[in-house]
Amino acid sequence: MITRARDQRKVLEDLDTFSSHRSIFSSALGENWPMIPLELDPPAHGIFRALLNPLFSSGRVMALERTVRRQARALINRIARMRTSCDVMKDFAIPFTVDVFLGFLGLSNSRTEILIRWVSDLLHGNGVKRTEAAQSIVKFIDEVAAMRRKQPAADFMTFVVQAQIEGRSLTKAEVRGIGVLFLVAGLDTVAAAISFDLAYLARNPRDQNLLRREPNRIALAVEELLRAYSTVQIIRVATKDVDFEGVPIRKGDYVSCATMIANRDPVEFKCPDTIDLTRQDNRHIAFGYGPHLCLGANLARREIAIGIHEWLARIPTFRIKEGTAPITHGGHVFGVENLILTWSRPTRPEPVERNEEPSHSPTVGIPSASSHGM
Ligand code: HEM
Repeated sequence: MITRARDQRKVLEDLDTFSSHRSIFSSALGENWPMIPLELDPPAHGIFRALLNPLFSSGRVMALERTVRRQARALINRIARMRTSCDVMKDFAIPFTVDVFLGFLGLSNSRTEILIRWVSDLLHGNGVKRTEAAQSIVKFIDEVAAMRRKQPAADFMTFVVQAQIEGRSLTKAEVRGIGVLFLVAGLDTVAAAISFDLAYLARNPRDQNLLRREPNRIALAVEELLRAYSTVQIIRVATKDVDFEGVPIRKGDYVSCATMIANRDPVEFKCPDTIDLTRQDNRHIAFGYGPHLCLGANLARREIAIGIHEWLARIPTFRIKEGTAPITHGGHVFGVENLILTWSRPTRPEPVERNEEPSHSPTVGIPSASSHGM
């Protein structure tokens, strides 16, 4: 367990000594294909990153923004119209991230419910449910890939099935490894961040009012909350025996870089346990560090900020429901199991855009694979 931020950066930069090569998802199915690019080492990692990086540039994320905002609004409006209480994960955070993912795939939200069930079984189910959910997710990704081979569209999966690396198309296993990663990487992480943020704001009405009054502070506040409530424990495997800062590490040992520890390192952050929504120069590593730095960070930041912004715009002053306490869990990705918020009155519905329900028009702004000359 690497505890100092400086040492975590050293580990995460040294891909020769600390490998990402594991098959976390596929091993649950008795298989061994990697999630791509997460579980690849150089040189394959760099090749796939170069292919996928353009999909998540800030320009591309900005192009998705309108759809993401519409999805957030539709869900929150539904809650705000009738109710004075809700379970944030179930009613907002999870369906929101699933809708964004389906939108990214260019698929309608008719699959939201089933995807939510698979993701929930995958993360919280027992052994059998977990394996069944993993099988269903793989089948779903394989089907979407097959559909896009036959019927190309302006979306993520079409990009992947048409892509070329080193003069060849991707194999089915590679397409699957990318599709599965994008599904599992972007759902519970973003949902957890939104829930931790809303729990914090529920308990700290002064900060809640600050962001309500001055929504232009939300982006900065999201960074501080990502630092304070980091969720991902990054794991590496030692490729050789090494002495690391005086500690022997053996070949094959698992090395944990828990971002939640590094992000409260007092050497890096003044008063690390104080949450200061105006903190500047916040060089947290909630999205990792080095070559595997989160590819979806731009999208995640916007999803969280839009989610909080739309929530504050529609839900009056909220608090944690009396008699309940948010249940959180640890693990490789920390999360919130349920967070029950309450407020005093239903709100007047905001004017609804004509097509506000999150029907997914084909994803905006996905470049064609050939536009990279690959
Ligand atoms: C708050 C939300 C998120 C957090 C905290 C987060 C955190 C992380 C971390 C710590 C890593 C590095 C893992 C490692 O080094 O082994 C990572 C990698 C990755 N994330 Fe995220 N992530 C988030 C959202 C997303 C979203 C929305 C997507 C995509 C839609 C995404 C896609 C990826 C991918 C593809 C990688 C692998 C990058 C590589 O190996 O080169 N993430 N994420």
